Amino acid sequence: MDQHEHHRYRARCHWDGSTAAGYEAYDRGHRGECPPAPASVQLSADPAFRGSPEHPNPEQLVLLAASSCQLLSFLAVAARARVDVRGYSDDAEAVMPQAPRTGLSHIRLRPRIVVAGDVPLERLHALVEQAHQECYIANSLRCEVSVQPTFVRIPAYAFGDSGLAAGRLVLLADVFDTPSRALITDGAPRVPRLALDLGCGPGHSTRMLAGASQARRTVGIDASVAHVEAARGVAPELEFVVHDLTLTPFPLENADVAYARWVLAHLPDPVGRARSWLTQLAPGGVLLLEETERIETTEPVFVRYLALARDVVAARGASLEAGPLLAAFDPAPVGEVMRNSVRQWPVALPTAAALFALNLRVWGTDPAMPLAADDVAALQAALDRLAASDDRRVATWHIRQIILRSAM
Ligand SMILES: C[S@@+](CC[C@H](N)C(=O)[O-])C[C@H]1O[C@@H](n2cnc3c(N)ncnc32)[C@H](O)[C@@H]1O
Repeated sequence: MDQHEHHRYRARCHWDGSTAAGYEAYDRGHRGECPPAPASVQLSADPAFRGSPEHPNPEQLVLLAASSCQLLSFLAVAARARVDVRGYSDDAEAVMPQAPRTGLSHIRLRPRIVVAGDVPLERLHALVEQAHQECYIANSLRCEVSVQPTFVRIPAYAFGDSGLAAGRLVLLADVFDTPSRALITDGAPRVPRLALDLGCGPGHSTRMLAGASQARRTVGIDASVAHVEAARGVAPELEFVVHDLTLTPFPLENADVAYARWVLAHLPDPVGRARSWLTQLAPGGVLLLEETERIETTEPVFVRYLALARDVVAARGASLEAGPLLAAFDPAPVGEVMRNSVRQWPVALPTAAALFALNLRVWGTDPAMPLAADDVAALQAALDRLAASDDRRVATWHIRQIILRSAM
């Protein structure tokens, strides 16, 4: 800013060639720069004015400026309003009448905005309008600028917390009880004072953690109020707390063991998350993690289902197969790796199908679902048929099991 409190902007434009041969003949190509940004933009004229369609023209730059400025303005007002925007893409259009000595008459911005959580539509429209009122470029232009947004709202946690979602976690707990118990017995200290089940769902994994670790006190933590209420019914002898695990500090500090099964798969940046969880433990405390490395199957219905599940989880910036992201995890200086390996666990094909069928019932209508309702129903029916069959094949889960110790 200068002494008169103005922002100043510089841009350079460069052309060379010859106009000697008249209007028809000269090259419209030129180069633009916005110092100090090092990249230059190759520019041209609109093909209607003998430019090249290979390069952007000045009319498009104005349009792009309006689109980009609305994007930045919206992200800023949304962030200030604590609305979690996950994606923004604009397919903008400008109109210029053919008459001479006019300019752009109308700019139409059509952003598709993805937000996490059930934010009311009226609130989102109000934020877009506020961003438009604050947009520097729209405020600089004489032509009309309109914004016609569409919104996609995604629930914060893909697999939900309905009764059905809780039901699928019963089956999951049953199927993977043996490898999970083995990890806890191998990794947890003897008779820990305080054990935490991070992302406890309706409490089945918390119960298993309490039993396998013999902890004197076991507390399950989950962001879902519904899951925590269900957990209090499933394991009334244990404690449960509602807390978002992407936030530290935890409501309980200095645990000597924390366990998280299939939770990092639903959170962006699993490595950063695991690192921050380690800092919440007592010095020398143990963090036990279980995440899917991959699910080995050649059954086409499963292959199809898994591709969809990946898309739905990825729409929240997370990764269904979080195991590979943790394969080379080095938590130094906040901790060290005691074990990081993959255990194989074969699951009977009808059981795996039942698990997947329950999952699909939970998130089949998710806004991030790329399939039409009829195709989801067909996949659902195929999974139900496999679940009811006596197919002898197996699907093998490759489970990454990690034991970390927090720094002393
Ligand atoms: C696949 S379930 C696993 C439940 C349990 N660990 C088990 O093995 O049965 C994932 C759990 O993580 C919880 N979760 C997802 N995001 C969370 C967050 N940010 N903070 C706390 N819990 C979260 C969900 O509510 C859900 O209960």
